[in-house]
Amino acid sequence: MERSAAIALLCLYVHEDGLKKHCLATGAVMRALAARLGEDEDLWETIGILHDIDFELIHGDMQLHGAKGAEILTEHGIDPDLAGIVWRHNHFLFLGTYDLPIEVALQAADSASGLVTACALVKGGRLSDVTVKTVTKKAKEKSFAAGCDRSRIALIAPILALPEFYAVAIDGLMRIRGELGLI
Ligand SMILES: [Fe+2]
Repeated sequence: MERSAAIALLCLYVHEDGLKKHCLATGAVMRALAARLGEDEDLWETIGILHDIDFELIHGDMQLHGAKGAEILTEHGIDPDLAGIVWRHNHFLFLGTYDLPIEVALQAADSASGLVTACALVKGGRLSDVTVKTVTKKAKEKSFAAGCDRSRIALIAPILALPEFYAVAIDGLMRIRGELGLI
């Protein structure tokens, strides 16, 4: 699926600007990770963009999160295997069962996209001023961007050392910083 098609599909179900940006950011980190790991960049970005497509429909019922998304994606003709990855990204239900690199990456990208974005916001929106050192330091502050689960980020460590992962995440986000409202 083309990036523009994934975004168009996302926008049928997601209207809140912050959530849209979170999805685009997660997609950008996924694309950069795929490039670093020699995986399918378009596929990984698509999964990142679409992973929270059901979030406005579930009204906070995390038991439905992912399952509803997979249902939507299947209705739109997305491969059931890919829809399954979206379903299983709900860590409240599936943490501890992630073996595929794309599933591990999605856990890390979902949390790191928010963490790195928060680092940019404390620098006046200047993502260009965020370094691996910034992110590493801020990740250790438990109260900073507390919703960004560090244990989900840590799942990537057997595949890619954390400093390198942060560098990849920053690079991925830099490529779409304008769309994220960052500079
Ligand atoms: Fe997410």
